[in-house]
Amino acid sequence: MHIGTTLTNYIIETQRSLPEATGEFTGLLNDISVACKRISDLVNKGDLVGMLGSADSENVQGETQKKLDVVTNEVFIEALTQNGHIAGLVSEEMDDIYPLPNPSRRGRYLLLCDPLDGSSNIDVNVSVGTIFSIVRAPEGKEKPSTEDFLQQGTEQVAAGYCLYGPSTILVLAVKGQGVQMFTLNRDFGEFILTRKDVQIPEETKEFAINVSNQRHWEEPVRRYIDECLQGKEGPRGKDFNMRWVASMVAEVHRILCRGGIFMYPLDAKIKAKGQSGRLRLMYEANPMSLIVEQAGGAATTGRQRILELDPSEIHERAPVVLGSRAEVDVVTRYHNEG
Ligand code: F6P
Ligand code: MN
Repeated sequence: MHIGTTLTNYIIETQRSLPEATGEFTGLLNDISVACKRISDLVNKGDLVGMLGSADSENVQGETQKKLDVVTNEVFIEALTQNGHIAGLVSEEMDDIYPLPNPSRRGRYLLLCDPLDGSSNIDVNVSVGTIFSIVRAPEGKEKPSTEDFLQQGTEQVAAGYCLYGPSTILVLAVKGQGVQMFTLNRDFGEFILTRKDVQIPEETKEFAINVSNQRHWEEPVRRYIDECLQGKEGPRGKDFNMRWVASMVAEVHRILCRGGIFMYPLDAKIKAKGQSGRLRLMYEANPMSLIVEQAGGAATTGRQRILELDPSEIHERAPVVLGSRAEVDVVTRYHNEG
Protein backbone atom coordinates (compact mmCIF):
# COMPACT_ATOMS: atom_id res chain seq x y z
CA MET A 1 0.00 0.00 0.00
CA HIS A 2 1.02 3.57 -0.80
CA ILE A 3 2.32 5.61 2.21
CA GLY A 4 2.09 9.14 0.77
CA THR A 5 4.42 12.05 1.61
CA THR A 6 5.21 12.04 5.33
CA LEU A 7 6.06 15.17 7.29
CA THR A 8 9.65 13.88 7.51
CA ASN A 9 9.82 13.41 3.70
CA TYR A 10 8.63 16.99 3.25
CA ILE A 11 11.06 18.51 5.75
CA ILE A 12 14.07 16.63 4.37
CA GLU A 13 13.14 17.79 0.87
CA THR A 14 12.70 21.39 2.11
CA GLN A 15 16.03 21.24 3.90
CA ARG A 16 17.80 20.26 0.67
CA SER A 17 16.91 23.69 -0.71
CA LEU A 18 18.60 25.45 2.25
CA PRO A 19 22.37 25.50 1.63
CA GLU A 20 23.35 25.88 5.30
CA ALA A 21 21.06 23.11 6.56
CA THR A 22 22.62 20.38 8.70
CA GLY A 23 19.70 18.09 9.50
CA GLU A 24 19.03 19.78 12.82
CA PHE A 25 15.91 21.49 11.48
CA THR A 26 14.51 18.12 10.37
CA GLY A 27 15.26 16.79 13.85
CA LEU A 28 13.53 19.73 15.51
CA LEU A 29 10.38 19.36 13.41
CA ASN A 30 10.42 15.68 14.20
CA ASP A 31 10.57 16.43 17.96
CA ILE A 32 7.61 18.80 17.57
CA SER A 33 5.62 16.21 15.66
CA VAL A 34 6.27 13.62 18.39
CA ALA A 35 4.97 16.10 20.99
CA CYS A 36 1.87 16.80 18.87
CA LYS A 37 1.14 13.08 18.40
CA ARG A 38 1.38 12.55 22.16
CA ILE A 39 -0.91 15.53 22.83
CA SER A 40 -3.35 14.33 20.18
CA ASP A 41 -3.52 10.99 21.96
CA LEU A 42 -4.13 12.62 25.39
CA VAL A 43 -6.78 15.03 24.05
CA ASN A 44 -8.46 12.14 22.27
CA LYS A 45 -8.60 9.93 25.37
CA GLY A 46 -9.74 12.84 27.62
CA ASP A 47 -11.73 11.60 30.58
CA LEU A 48 -10.63 7.99 30.01
CA VAL A 49 -7.16 8.95 31.26
CA GLY A 50 -8.34 11.58 33.78
CA MET A 51 -7.13 14.49 31.64
CA LEU A 52 -10.11 16.85 31.90
CA GLY A 53 -10.75 19.55 34.51
CA SER A 54 -8.68 22.17 36.31
CA ALA A 55 -5.22 21.74 37.77
CA ASP A 56 -5.67 24.11 40.76
CA SER A 57 -2.82 26.32 39.53
CA GLU A 58 -2.42 29.58 37.62
CA ASN A 59 -0.08 30.46 34.76
CA VAL A 60 1.94 33.67 34.47
CA GLN A 61 -1.07 35.40 32.90
CA GLY A 62 -3.12 34.68 36.04
CA GLU A 63 -5.34 32.22 34.18
CA THR A 64 -6.44 29.00 35.88
CA GLN A 65 -4.58 26.14 34.27
CA LYS A 66 -6.35 23.02 33.06
CA LYS A 67 -4.77 19.64 33.78
CA LEU A 68 -4.09 19.36 30.07
CA ASP A 69 -2.33 22.76 30.01
CA VAL A 70 0.14 21.44 32.58
CA VAL A 71 0.57 17.98 31.07
CA THR A 72 1.00 19.19 27.48
CA ASN A 73 3.66 21.65 28.64
CA GLU A 74 5.52 18.70 30.20
CA VAL A 75 5.14 16.77 26.94
CA PHE A 76 6.78 19.65 25.06
CA ILE A 77 9.64 19.86 27.56
CA GLU A 78 10.28 16.13 27.32
CA ALA A 79 10.09 15.94 23.52
CA LEU A 80 12.14 19.08 22.87
CA THR A 81 14.94 19.00 25.40
CA GLN A 82 16.45 15.54 24.84
CA ASN A 83 17.82 15.62 21.33
CA GLY A 84 19.77 18.85 21.25
CA HIS A 85 17.91 20.63 18.48
CA ILE A 86 17.02 23.76 20.46
CA ALA A 87 19.01 26.14 22.65
CA GLY A 88 16.00 27.35 24.61
CA LEU A 89 12.26 27.05 25.08
CA VAL A 90 9.49 29.52 25.88
CA SER A 91 5.98 28.35 26.64
CA GLU A 92 2.73 30.09 27.52
CA GLU A 93 2.62 27.92 30.63
CA MET A 94 6.02 28.94 32.07
CA ASP A 95 6.91 32.34 33.56
CA ASP A 96 10.49 32.39 32.30
CA ILE A 97 12.51 30.75 29.56
CA TYR A 98 13.08 27.06 30.29
CA PRO A 99 16.70 26.34 31.24
CA LEU A 100 17.99 23.41 29.19
CA PRO A 101 19.48 20.88 31.59
CA ASN A 102 22.38 19.71 29.41
CA PRO A 103 24.54 22.52 27.96
CA SER A 104 26.42 20.10 25.71
CA ARG A 105 23.19 19.28 23.92
CA ARG A 106 22.17 22.69 22.65
CA GLY A 107 20.92 23.27 19.15
CA ARG A 108 20.80 26.30 16.88
CA TYR A 109 17.11 27.10 17.27
CA LEU A 110 14.81 28.66 19.87
CA LEU A 111 11.26 27.39 20.21
CA LEU A 112 8.29 29.41 21.45
CA CYS A 113 5.03 27.55 21.94
CA ASP A 114 1.53 27.46 23.27
CA PRO A 115 1.24 23.74 24.01
CA LEU A 116 -2.56 23.80 24.26
CA ASP A 117 -4.43 26.79 22.94
CA GLY A 118 -8.17 27.30 23.43
CA SER A 119 -8.17 25.43 26.71
CA SER A 120 -11.66 26.68 27.70
CA ASN A 121 -12.82 24.18 25.06
CA ILE A 122 -11.09 21.12 26.50
CA ASP A 123 -13.79 20.06 28.92
CA VAL A 124 -16.57 20.40 26.33
CA ASN A 125 -14.92 18.29 23.60
CA VAL A 126 -14.43 21.15 21.14
CA SER A 127 -11.26 21.57 19.03
CA VAL A 128 -8.06 22.80 20.68
CA GLY A 129 -4.54 23.14 19.26
CA THR A 130 -0.81 23.60 19.70
CA ILE A 131 0.96 26.65 18.22
CA PHE A 132 4.72 26.98 17.69
CA SER A 133 7.27 29.46 16.39
CA ILE A 134 10.93 28.75 15.55
CA VAL A 135 13.68 31.40 15.47
CA ARG A 136 17.45 31.11 15.29
CA ALA A 137 19.51 31.06 18.50
CA PRO A 138 22.44 33.49 18.65
CA GLU A 139 25.63 31.78 17.55
CA GLY A 140 28.41 30.92 19.97
CA LYS A 141 26.45 31.77 23.09
CA GLU A 142 26.47 29.29 25.95
CA LYS A 143 23.02 30.17 27.28
CA PRO A 144 20.38 32.21 25.41
CA SER A 145 18.85 35.11 27.34
CA THR A 146 15.29 36.40 27.27
CA GLU A 147 16.39 39.12 24.80
CA ASP A 148 17.50 36.45 22.34
CA PHE A 149 13.89 35.28 22.07
CA LEU A 150 12.56 38.78 21.48
CA GLN A 151 12.91 38.79 17.70
CA GLN A 152 10.45 40.32 15.25
CA GLY A 153 7.98 37.88 13.66
CA THR A 154 9.69 38.41 10.31
CA GLU A 155 12.71 36.55 11.75
CA GLN A 156 10.80 33.29 12.22
CA VAL A 157 12.43 30.38 10.40
CA ALA A 158 9.20 28.41 10.55
CA ALA A 159 5.87 28.38 12.34
CA GLY A 160 3.01 25.98 12.65
CA TYR A 161 0.10 24.65 14.56
CA CYS A 162 -1.50 21.30 15.23
CA LEU A 163 -5.29 21.18 15.38
CA TYR A 164 -6.88 18.47 17.52
CA GLY A 165 -10.31 18.23 15.91
CA PRO A 166 -12.20 15.43 14.18
CA SER A 167 -8.81 14.84 12.48
CA THR A 168 -5.44 15.85 13.91
CA ILE A 169 -3.90 18.22 11.37
CA LEU A 170 -0.42 19.74 11.51
CA VAL A 171 0.01 22.89 9.45
CA LEU A 172 3.55 24.03 8.69
CA ALA A 173 4.94 27.22 7.20
CA VAL A 174 8.68 27.10 6.59
CA LYS A 175 9.78 30.65 5.71
CA GLY A 176 9.48 31.23 1.99
CA GLN A 177 8.11 27.72 1.34
CA GLY A 178 4.34 28.22 1.51
CA VAL A 179 1.92 26.44 3.82
CA GLN A 180 1.35 22.68 3.89
CA MET A 181 -1.22 20.57 5.77
CA PHE A 182 -0.50 17.10 7.13
CA THR A 183 -3.20 14.80 8.53
CA LEU A 184 -2.27 12.30 11.24
CA ASN A 185 -2.88 8.72 10.17
CA ARG A 186 -3.44 7.14 13.57
CA ASP A 187 -3.08 3.60 12.21
CA PHE A 188 0.61 3.99 11.48
CA GLY A 189 1.32 7.18 13.47
CA GLU A 190 2.54 9.45 10.66
CA PHE A 191 1.54 12.92 9.53
CA ILE A 192 0.76 12.63 5.80
CA LEU A 193 0.74 15.60 3.40
CA THR A 194 -2.93 16.15 2.51
CA ARG A 195 -3.01 19.76 1.20
CA LYS A 196 -0.16 21.49 -0.61
CA ASP A 197 0.57 25.21 -0.94
CA VAL A 198 -2.63 26.33 0.75
CA GLN A 199 -3.91 29.74 -0.35
CA ILE A 200 -6.50 31.78 1.55
CA PRO A 201 -9.26 33.15 -0.72
CA GLU A 202 -8.80 36.92 -0.98
CA GLU A 203 -12.50 37.74 -0.57
CA THR A 204 -14.72 36.41 2.20
CA LYS A 205 -18.15 36.75 3.76
CA GLU A 206 -17.35 35.24 7.14
CA PHE A 207 -16.10 37.02 10.26
CA ALA A 208 -15.08 35.79 13.72
CA ILE A 209 -15.06 38.05 16.76
CA ASN A 210 -16.23 37.71 20.36
CA VAL A 211 -19.32 39.93 20.12
CA SER A 212 -19.80 39.87 23.91
CA ASN A 213 -17.05 42.53 23.96
CA GLN A 214 -18.98 44.83 21.62
CA ARG A 215 -19.58 47.59 24.16
CA HIS A 216 -15.81 47.84 24.75
CA TRP A 217 -14.78 48.01 21.07
CA GLU A 218 -12.99 50.92 19.45
CA GLU A 219 -14.82 52.88 16.76
CA PRO A 220 -13.11 51.28 13.67
CA VAL A 221 -14.06 47.76 14.86
CA ARG A 222 -17.59 48.87 15.68
CA ARG A 223 -17.89 50.37 12.20
CA TYR A 224 -16.52 47.30 10.42
CA ILE A 225 -18.76 44.78 12.21
CA ASP A 226 -21.77 47.06 11.93
CA GLU A 227 -21.26 47.24 8.16
CA CYS A 228 -20.92 43.44 7.95
CA LEU A 229 -24.18 43.06 9.88
CA GLN A 230 -26.01 45.40 7.50
CA GLY A 231 -25.43 42.76 4.81
CA LYS A 232 -26.63 43.26 1.23
CA GLU A 233 -28.48 46.44 2.17
CA GLY A 234 -25.38 48.06 3.75
CA PRO A 235 -22.21 49.63 2.29
CA ARG A 236 -20.51 46.22 1.86
CA GLY A 237 -23.31 44.99 -0.41
CA LYS A 238 -23.09 41.35 0.73
CA ASP A 239 -24.47 39.18 3.53
CA PHE A 240 -21.90 37.99 6.07
CA ASN A 241 -21.90 34.87 8.22
CA MET A 242 -20.35 34.67 11.71
CA ARG A 243 -18.35 31.95 13.53
CA TRP A 244 -16.68 31.98 16.98
CA VAL A 245 -15.07 28.74 18.17
CA ALA A 246 -12.97 30.40 20.92
CA SER A 247 -10.00 28.30 19.77
CA MET A 248 -7.71 30.44 17.65
CA VAL A 249 -6.23 27.36 16.01
CA ALA A 250 -9.65 26.20 14.78
CA GLU A 251 -10.44 29.73 13.67
CA VAL A 252 -7.21 30.10 11.64
CA HIS A 253 -7.68 26.62 10.20
CA ARG A 254 -11.17 27.51 8.94
CA ILE A 255 -9.73 30.67 7.36
CA LEU A 256 -6.97 28.69 5.61
CA CYS A 257 -9.59 26.26 4.26
CA ARG A 258 -12.30 28.65 3.07
CA GLY A 259 -11.31 32.23 3.86
CA GLY A 260 -12.61 34.60 6.53
CA ILE A 261 -11.44 37.21 8.99
CA PHE A 262 -10.56 36.64 12.66
CA MET A 263 -10.28 39.53 15.09
CA TYR A 264 -9.27 39.89 18.70
CA PRO A 265 -8.85 43.66 18.67
CA LEU A 266 -7.73 46.06 21.35
CA ASP A 267 -10.73 47.30 23.36
CA ALA A 268 -11.51 49.40 26.43
CA LYS A 269 -11.75 46.34 28.71
CA ILE A 270 -8.29 45.13 27.67
CA LYS A 271 -6.86 48.65 28.09
CA ALA A 272 -8.42 48.97 31.55
CA LYS A 273 -6.45 45.89 32.57
CA GLY A 274 -3.27 47.64 31.40
CA GLN A 275 -2.81 45.12 28.59
CA SER A 276 -1.91 45.70 24.94
CA GLY A 277 -4.13 42.96 23.53
CA ARG A 278 -5.75 39.64 24.41
CA LEU A 279 -3.63 37.17 22.46
CA ARG A 280 0.06 36.57 23.04
CA LEU A 281 2.47 37.95 20.44
CA MET A 282 5.37 35.51 20.53
CA TYR A 283 3.59 32.14 20.43
CA GLU A 284 0.11 32.98 19.13
CA ALA A 285 0.00 36.12 16.95
CA ASN A 286 3.45 35.85 15.31
CA PRO A 287 3.32 32.19 14.21
CA MET A 288 -0.28 32.55 13.00
CA SER A 289 0.65 35.72 11.11
CA LEU A 290 3.53 33.99 9.31
CA ILE A 291 1.22 31.12 8.30
CA VAL A 292 -1.54 33.47 7.15
CA GLU A 293 0.81 35.74 5.18
CA GLN A 294 2.50 32.79 3.48
CA ALA A 295 -0.94 31.56 2.46
CA GLY A 296 -1.60 34.92 0.77
CA GLY A 297 -3.59 36.49 3.62
CA ALA A 298 -2.79 39.44 5.87
CA ALA A 299 -2.28 39.96 9.61
CA THR A 300 -2.26 43.31 11.40
CA THR A 301 -2.93 44.76 14.84
CA GLY A 302 -5.55 46.90 13.10
CA ARG A 303 -2.85 49.54 12.75
CA GLN A 304 0.34 47.81 11.65
CA ARG A 305 1.72 44.49 10.40
CA ILE A 306 2.03 42.04 13.32
CA LEU A 307 5.26 40.50 12.00
CA GLU A 308 7.01 43.88 12.28
CA LEU A 309 6.18 44.51 15.95
CA ASP A 310 9.21 44.93 18.23
CA PRO A 311 8.65 42.61 21.18
CA SER A 312 9.77 43.64 24.64
CA GLU A 313 8.52 40.71 26.75
CA ILE A 314 8.11 37.00 26.06
CA HIS A 315 4.48 36.98 27.26
CA GLU A 316 3.54 40.29 25.66
CA ARG A 317 0.09 40.62 24.09
CA ALA A 318 -1.02 42.12 20.79
CA PRO A 319 -4.29 42.95 19.04
CA VAL A 320 -4.95 40.56 16.14
CA VAL A 321 -6.80 41.04 12.85
CA LEU A 322 -6.00 38.29 10.34
CA GLY A 323 -7.33 36.36 7.37
CA SER A 324 -8.49 37.14 3.84
CA ARG A 325 -6.46 40.07 2.57
CA ALA A 326 -9.31 42.24 1.26
CA GLU A 327 -11.15 42.22 4.62
CA VAL A 328 -8.04 42.75 6.77
CA ASP A 329 -7.22 45.72 4.53
CA VAL A 330 -10.67 47.24 5.19
CA VAL A 331 -10.31 46.91 8.98
CA THR A 332 -6.75 48.30 8.91
CA ARG A 333 -7.84 51.22 6.73
CA TYR A 334 -10.68 52.07 9.17
CA HIS A 335 -8.18 52.14 12.06
CA ASN A 336 -5.67 54.30 10.22
CA GLU A 337 -8.35 56.74 8.99
CA GLY A 338 -9.63 57.24 12.54
O1 F6P B 1 -5.45 31.67 24.33
C1 F6P B 1 -6.33 32.45 23.71
C2 F6P B 1 -7.68 31.87 23.29
O2 F6P B 1 -8.00 30.66 23.90
C3 F6P B 1 -7.79 31.75 21.78
O3 F6P B 1 -7.55 30.48 21.28
C4 F6P B 1 -9.20 32.18 21.52
O4 F6P B 1 -9.32 32.78 20.27
C5 F6P B 1 -9.50 33.13 22.63
O5 F6P B 1 -8.63 32.84 23.68
C6 F6P B 1 -10.92 33.02 23.09
O6 F6P B 1 -11.26 34.14 23.77
P1 F6P B 1 -12.68 34.38 24.49
O7 F6P B 1 -12.58 33.65 25.78
O8 F6P B 1 -12.78 35.84 24.62
O9 F6P B 1 -13.76 33.79 23.61
MN1 MN C 1 -3.31 30.26 24.03
